[in-house]
Amino acid sequence: MMEEKKAMKVGKYEMGRVLGEGHSGKVRLAQNLETGQAFALKVLDKQRLLKQRQSDQIKREIGILKQLRHPNIVRLHEVLASKTKIYLVLEYVSGGELYYRIEKGRLSEVNSRKVFQQLIDAVSYCHDKDIYHRDLKLENILVDPTGTIKISDFGLSASADHFKNDGLLHTICGSPHYVAPEVFSCKGYNGASADLWSCGVILYVLLTGYLPFCDRNLARLYQKIAEGNAKIPQWLSPGAQNLIRRLLDTNPKTRITADEIKQDEWFKQDYTPANPIEEDQETYIDSEIFKMPEVMEASKYQGLQGALINAFELIGMSSSLDLSGLFEEEDVSERKIRFTTNYSLRDLVEKIEGNVKEMGFRVEKSNGKLKLIQESKDQKRPFGLSIVAEVFEINPSLRLVELSKSYGDSSIYRKLCTELSKDLGVRENQPQLTVVEA
Ligand code: ADE
Repeated sequence: MMEEKKAMKVGKYEMGRVLGEGHSGKVRLAQNLETGQAFALKVLDKQRLLKQRQSDQIKREIGILKQLRHPNIVRLHEVLASKTKIYLVLEYVSGGELYYRIEKGRLSEVNSRKVFQQLIDAVSYCHDKDIYHRDLKLENILVDPTGTIKISDFGLSASADHFKNDGLLHTICGSPHYVAPEVFSCKGYNGASADLWSCGVILYVLLTGYLPFCDRNLARLYQKIAEGNAKIPQWLSPGAQNLIRRLLDTNPKTRITADEIKQDEWFKQDYTPANPIEEDQETYIDSEIFKMPEVMEASKYQGLQGALINAFELIGMSSSLDLSGLFEEEDVSERKIRFTTNYSLRDLVEKIEGNVKEMGFRVEKSNGKLKLIQESKDQKRPFGLSIVAEVFEINPSLRLVELSKSYGDSSIYRKLCTELSKDLGVRENQPQLTVVEA
């Protein structure tokens, strides 16, 4: 007889199929066994939070999501933690990603506008709270069966404490096709105008079915974005053409603002602004989150397998609480890391070679790439570590270094990435290490 497979449970939630994979972890369908209600559980793996940087990012994402209650933003209901995982219990949006709708073909102007109005409502709501998404793209917009959109994945978002003294953001992040040109410059950028550029790219894709800036070569893609001359089809209505032009303005200072968008004639047609407060009263039950029976102190928690604690509490206990203490080491992480640098190509190759040779790596050059190989001395791990480094020119004084691990020990890989970005990354910034791909 076939053995029946037991569904995995996390507290009162029964886990179901994988819905998707975000920046920081898998998202699974889950059912609250007490109420029968469906949720999306974002499962954050311990290894991704090992470093202080990662746990800070997650704390930030939770802190940000907690503040957001808007009908067009995926709601965070509660946060649970076990010894090895953190679970974000999110609103379930059953229609999937907007991306898959557009894959089937562009939307009509009326439907594009409906989506865009909701997008601007949600984005301006965040901006009013000094929160910037920084990775707006079709893949991060979910749709429910009634056509209501919900923005998800605040894994890269920034809030007020992210700004340098100049009041600008400095980390390059986001998906290349949607990233504003000023984000590549080393001078810092305004989070609101950068998000609105991404909204411009989204509007363009909704209306046309294709991207305004596209190239398989990353360096050429960045050049196209920097030039900003997207071809705007003449068959679009003049109102839509005008709004795209104002959004895809390469100068963030003259780019249209959210308030101006709301005054735009094309945008205003059949526009009913969302009411975030009404939504809040309907669905949010704050007290539930803090009445969880599983809540316990972090110190008692150490070493307990399988128990759940409320991570709101966990994170709230100490601003400097290092979640990494709760997690075990694990060594597989197949990620691309990139950082920007002002070094010339020749200096860059010389520096990378110098740095990695000191760490016992051998360097091979082929097809314009550097292969960094560290042979293994450990018989249990016979394959060692292999990393590919690629350099893309963004403009005459700025280059992008992309590192990807082919195979081997992730902790050494991460150490090397950190060393290289510290030594070679653009000087006025903190080392700009950005995880770009899972
Ligand atoms: N995929 C990622 N997040 C999701 C959510 N909240 N609902 C449905 N699918 C998702």
